[in-house]
Amino acid sequence: MKILKVKNEIEAGKLGSEIILDLVINKDKPVLGLATGSTPISTYNQIIERTNSEKIDWTNVTTFNLDEYKGLKPTDDQSYDFFMRKQLFDHINIKKENTNIPSGSISTNEEANKYDELIAAKGGIDLQLLGLGTNGHVGFNEPPADFNSLTSIVNLVESTIESNARFFAKKEDVPTQAISMGMKSIMSAKKILLIALGESKADAIAQLVNGKVDPSWPCTLLQNHKDVTIIIDEKAASKL
Ligand code: F6R
Repeated sequence: MKILKVKNEIEAGKLGSEIILDLVINKDKPVLGLATGSTPISTYNQIIERTNSEKIDWTNVTTFNLDEYKGLKPTDDQSYDFFMRKQLFDHINIKKENTNIPSGSISTNEEANKYDELIAAKGGIDLQLLGLGTNGHVGFNEPPADFNSLTSIVNLVESTIESNARFFAKKEDVPTQAISMGMKSIMSAKKILLIALGESKADAIAQLVNGKVDPSWPCTLLQNHKDVTIIIDEKAASKL
């Protein structure tokens, strides 16, 4: 595992965007796995800035997002589909048909598993960007995680609902379920880039780096992946 320590969110975004854009510029048909939440925003901002100033072409890029809230339509401004358009897709020349996000209307795991088939049909994910839950979740794979899971319908735990409530008018509005890529789906990516910022992520980072592989900290499974880079700021690194 490669650990890159940075001072703050801006530096994390700069480094994260460099790693992602390196692939976009140099690979013929890159397939990116993308995340939502607060963490990747600085990375997406830097990607937009460099894409526009250096005229970087995204027409051959395919993306797969990690997750979507169950029951939310793409038009809902709390949906991850909406988030991705606002934070990234609307500002770069990616083709809409090359962007994939699990549908919030999926109602069976059989349907959800088709997302993994779609990823495989594109040759697999070259680089998967991940944030990190305070409880160590990656995607919405909450503890105790099933290390063999494919994309499926998952229940969000109370701490995740509480932490995501900051984006909603009231806590009751936060969906309690999501469609998430599974642990096995994530581990199938050729490279993984995890970014963690702030003190609330320090315990999960300590487990990821120094803990043992254990379903009660889902992120620890990444120790078994051969190509993981983590970008952490000083606060997230404070318990190492
Ligand atoms: C988002 C996702 C989640 C977040 C995590 C951290 O697509 O899958 O695992 O990455 O909950 O969220 P933030 O970045 O808001 O702290």
